[in-house]
Amino acid sequence: MNGLFSLESEVAVVTGALGRLGAVWIETLLEAGASVFALDLPGAKVSEAFHRLGQRFGADRLSLQYTDVRDRQALETACEQCLTGFGVPSILVNNAGVDRPPAAAGTAYQLVDIPLEESREILEVNTLGLFLVSQVFGRHMLDAGRGSIINIGSLYAGVSPDQRFYDHLRSDPPFLKPPAYGASKAAVVNLTRYLATHWASGGVRVNALSPGGVSGGQDERFTDKFCHRVPMGRMAAGDDLCGPLLFLASRASSYVTGTELVVDGGFTAW
Ligand SMILES: NC(=O)c1ccc[n+]([C@@H]2O[C@H](COP(=O)([O-])OP(=O)(O)OC[C@H]3O[C@@H](n4cnc5c(N)ncnc54)[C@H](O)[C@@H]3O)[C@@H](O)[C@H]2O)c1
Repeated sequence: MNGLFSLESEVAVVTGALGRLGAVWIETLLEAGASVFALDLPGAKVSEAFHRLGQRFGADRLSLQYTDVRDRQALETACEQCLTGFGVPSILVNNAGVDRPPAAAGTAYQLVDIPLEESREILEVNTLGLFLVSQVFGRHMLDAGRGSIINIGSLYAGVSPDQRFYDHLRSDPPFLKPPAYGASKAAVVNLTRYLATHWASGGVRVNALSPGGVSGGQDERFTDKFCHRVPMGRMAAGDDLCGPLLFLASRASSYVTGTELVVDGGFTAW
C-alpha cells in the first residue's frame, strides 16, 4: 500500500490547463508530488486558479506553454521543451475541449440548419487534437516503457443531453448543446480503447475519465432540473474529480487500461 497514490518525481502534461477543470487536475497532480507541464491555446487568459498554483508550487514544478493541440509542429516544440525542462512525461491528461453551443457565434440555429463549420472545431480539438497530443507525447512514454494517459471524456459520451434542462430558456430557435460535442467525446472513449490495446505491451496505460455536469455558473432552473435527474442529487464539484484522476494517474490503477471511469453521481445509472 505504501505510496500507492504517490506521484513523487513524475512528470505530467495537462492540456487545456487554463480552463475550469485544468486547475483541478493540475492541483491534484502537484499535491501528489508530480511536476506539471501545462499547455493551453495561444492567447488564452491565465486563470486565477492557475496563477495561484504557480505562486504556490513555483516555476520548477509548474510550467505553461502556449500550444494549440491541433498543431503538430507546435506540439513537437512543446514536447522538446518538456523533455529539456522537466524530463520524460509519465502522465498525460488530455483535457483541452470545446463545448460551444451553435448559437455562441451570435446566430442561433434550428438543428436542421446548423452549418458543418460549427461542428468542425469541436471535432478537431476534442477528438483529433487529443489524438495528436497522444502521438507526440506518447512516443516518449513508449520509449521509456511506462506511462498513464487520461483522456477527459464526458457524461455526454454515453447519453444525449436532455433538452428539457433548457426548455425554460424559451428562445426561438431553442438553445441547443452542440450536436458534435457528445459525438466527439464518444469518439474519445473509443480512441481510448484503441490506444490502450496498442500500447499496453509498451507499458503505457490509456483510460478515459468522464465527468458529469460540474457546478459553476449555471442558471438556477437548469441546476434544479439537472440535480433532480442525478441519483446523488447534486452536480459535481471539482473535489469529486481529484480522486478518480489520481487513481488513474498513479500505481493504484496499475492493471487498469482501456476503461472509461464515469464520475457522474449516478446520472447514467437511471
Ligand atoms: N465542466 C464540465 O461540466 C465538464 C463536464 C464533462 C466533461 N468536461 C470536459 O472537461 C474538459 C475541461 O472542461 P472545462 O469545463 O475546464 O472547459 P473550459 O472551456 O473551461 O476549458 C477548456 C480549455 O481548453 C482550452 N482549449 C480549447 N481549444 C484548445 C486548443 N485548440 N488547444 C489547446 N487548448 C485548447 C481552452 O483555452 C480552455 O482553457 C473538457 O474536455 C470538457 O469537455 C467538462
